[in-house]
Amino acid sequence: MSPKPLLNVLQGQRETRPPFWFMRQAGRYLAEYRAVREKAGSFLDLVYAPDLATEVTLQPVERLNTDAAILFSDILIVPHALGQDLDFRQGEGPVLDPIRSVKDLHRLSHQRLDDRATPVYQTVRQVAGALPDHVALIGFCGGLWTVASYMVAGRGGDDQAAAKAWAFSDPEGFDALLRILEDASFTYLMGQIKAGAEVIQIFESWASNLPEPAFERFVIEPTRRLVARLKDTAGDVPIIGFPRGAGPLLGRFAERSGVDAVSLDSGMVLSFADETLPKGLAVQGNLDPQYVVAGGALMEKEATRILNALSNRPHIFNLGHGFVPYTPVDHVERLAAFLHGWPDQAA
Ligand code: CP3
Repeated sequence: MSPKPLLNVLQGQRETRPPFWFMRQAGRYLAEYRAVREKAGSFLDLVYAPDLATEVTLQPVERLNTDAAILFSDILIVPHALGQDLDFRQGEGPVLDPIRSVKDLHRLSHQRLDDRATPVYQTVRQVAGALPDHVALIGFCGGLWTVASYMVAGRGGDDQAAAKAWAFSDPEGFDALLRILEDASFTYLMGQIKAGAEVIQIFESWASNLPEPAFERFVIEPTRRLVARLKDTAGDVPIIGFPRGAGPLLGRFAERSGVDAVSLDSGMVLSFADETLPKGLAVQGNLDPQYVVAGGALMEKEATRILNALSNRPHIFNLGHGFVPYTPVDHVERLAAFLHGWPDQAA
């Protein structure tokens, strides 16, 4: 038994009060984040400044007493460390110099990845040294399909048209990109684990709307390879998969990818998840972040519904996707207090 409830749950144990953390728990909804962000200059300057990144990683832990800290970084640090130009523009999100076909792959180089990611590993080390005994440290990377879709389109978007155009017309060439990302993500995650990350989450945020064979080939299979390599090298570090929008393919993702837990998006039907997932597999997620924007009794009612629906499994409470920047911080505080009081103050 660990003093960290989150690690116990990931080992298959149920905690009476499910441990919780929130996707995007460090971010613009916090005034103390906005202050540090301003001091840093750009978002990337903040990610690559270990002292400041440590500070913002710890902010939500201190304010909300969460059961986990998640490294402050971004899924697009992997392409950036591979040499792809990246910029985060105000109001526009990430912009990358697109990789459109096999001919562009020479622009990516694994060689300096560890060097470039050194400040991120340093942040992990500093956070690990500063956390209270009961709080777990989560490292992460993006799902390979999701990161590839940003690299190919050069920006975010919800249709993945550019990645699909390449992947469907030249699957072998696209696999070559996924292999580069698999190697890079493995190196990057091992760097985090060696520095003190105790849990890994893989954010496959754009796994929705793929035809079944494409989901198998471009989502499940690359994830399975990455997870297998991590299990071979760092077997005791639990891995959470977040295949957002997997829908009916959730169970297949969980079984074939080899992850230890899955994070559920807000659209997932909880009774379906419970039926389709392997018995005893830990789950987290599902609270629609807009319920936290709404706040009050409505938010607590929804949290209660989730806590009850998942009461037969090892459960980590979380959102179905990240907080939006305009989330009122007092609503988040109320949710944290509610979760700390569970089950005694059930709504
Ligand atoms: O608190 C945490 O969850 C840890 C840090 C974290 C960030 N991004 C910080 C961030 C994590 C785990 C991520 C993951 C991430 N990044 C994902 C997967 C999860 C998801 O949300 O689906 C994706 C798709 C990205 C890519 C990304 N990064 C986008 C599309 C944007 C712009 C949108 C936005 O909110 O501005 C980012 C920027 C980003 N990453 C911010 C933060 C706090 C905002 C940057 C700022 O301060 O201006």
